Amino acid sequence: MNINKTRKTYKDKKSIFNLTGSPIKIFKEWYLEAEKKVSEPNAFALSTSYKNIPSSRMMLLKSFSSTFIFYTNISSKKGKEIENNKAASILFWWKEMQRQVRIDGKLEQLSSTKVKKYFYSRPYESQIGALSSNQSSKLNSYEQLINEFEKNKSLFKNKKVLFPRNWVGFELRPNSIEFWQGGKSRLHQRIEFKKIKKIWKKKILAP
Ligand SMILES: Cc1cc2nc3c(=O)[nH]c(=O)nc-3n(C[C@H](O)[C@H](O)[C@H](O)COP(=O)(O)O)c2cc1C
Repeated sequence: MNINKTRKTYKDKKSIFNLTGSPIKIFKEWYLEAEKKVSEPNAFALSTSYKNIPSSRMMLLKSFSSTFIFYTNISSKKGKEIENNKAASILFWWKEMQRQVRIDGKLEQLSSTKVKKYFYSRPYESQIGALSSNQSSKLNSYEQLINEFEKNKSLFKNKKVLFPRNWVGFELRPNSIEFWQGGKSRLHQRIEFKKIKKIWKKKILAP
């Protein structure tokens, strides 16, 4: 299937080269704007790797300050990859704003106190869902999952849901953050910040 007629022309946006402050401050400004314009602005692609073979999947960011926090199952494919290699990359695409943000860094596991606090703040059925799914393991049928969900629902009716022991949180400590703004004639604007000896150094990159 030839899809080369699918071609989006970006409109010029105001310059991003005069953005001031740390990349975390800029991310926060862009995120606040994205909250108003983008559906699920917290959705990002997480890339990890095992023995030089990369893999990516979409995730939801749950908080950020100087690090970027998400939750998952440590027994999953990504969990096993992260256990072997803490280097990761996360990528946001805010289509409605023609903006991409790429953040590379090292992952650190959150303390179980923090993870439990977040787990029990989730809706009851999401807690049951997490407990019922051994993420990325083989299912004999979809019914197997539904049965597990229903079983746990009745087991923990009006009770505190058992904390799933494989449920974990990670924070990405960034060492590189790149902001990309789409422009006319593919003349996009890019600024890359790299952390060198604890100081963020800024560069403009060719699109
Ligand atoms: C928009 C979106 C958000 C998602 N958010 C999460 C998340 O926060 N945590 C998670 O474990 N999986 C999330 N998933 C599911 C993952 O993409 C993936 O299917 C799952 O984590 C298993 O990945 P793995 O086999 O590579 O470990 C999300 C999927 C989508 C489409």
